[in-house]
Amino acid sequence: MNIVLIGFMGSGKTATGRLLAKQLDYRFIDTDQLIEQKNGMTVANIFDRKGEAFFRQQETELLKQLCGADNSVIATGGGIVLSAENRSLLQNLGSVIYLQADPPEILKRLGTDQTRPLLHKEDRLAEIHKMLAVRQPLYLAAAECIINTFTGQPEKSAEQIRQLLKIEVR
Ligand code: S3P
Repeated sequence: MNIVLIGFMGSGKTATGRLLAKQLDYRFIDTDQLIEQKNGMTVANIFDRKGEAFFRQQETELLKQLCGADNSVIATGGGIVLSAENRSLLQNLGSVIYLQADPPEILKRLGTDQTRPLLHKEDRLAEIHKMLAVRQPLYLAAAECIINTFTGQPEKSAEQIRQLLKIEVR
């Protein structure tokens, strides 16, 4: 059994996933982090030097490698749902949870973060709206459950996920 967290940048996948894994005594897996480790560079540098298409291939390869994972909480990159193949790989991995957040909230949480190459834009809010319009239906299609992360508190999101999946803290 795995729990797979999907959602837009800044929706709290990593913080919530780390906490949930600790509470459940599960392994925590972060796809961005594993891709960075494998390539020996940051996501921003991968985008810069090898391009987005290469990064997306890395995501798919990694999901295939994770197919034997068990008792893990897997936090994914915000664009992982763009590919139909990835969406089905995610669903095969376990319960897919969409951490939903609204554009103004996302903007607030990301602040002036420079680690997300896709948001290196002048009008970040407009870009978030544009990207979310494409992605929202994909997140919804891939997810088994939706969590609204409006409080911005990983503790609340983790609790909601445990309640939805009926899993007790160990
Ligand atoms: C991306 C989200 C990032 C990272 C990369 C691309 C996206 O992950 O994978 O910058 O396309 O939304 P987070 O969602 O963890 O920020």
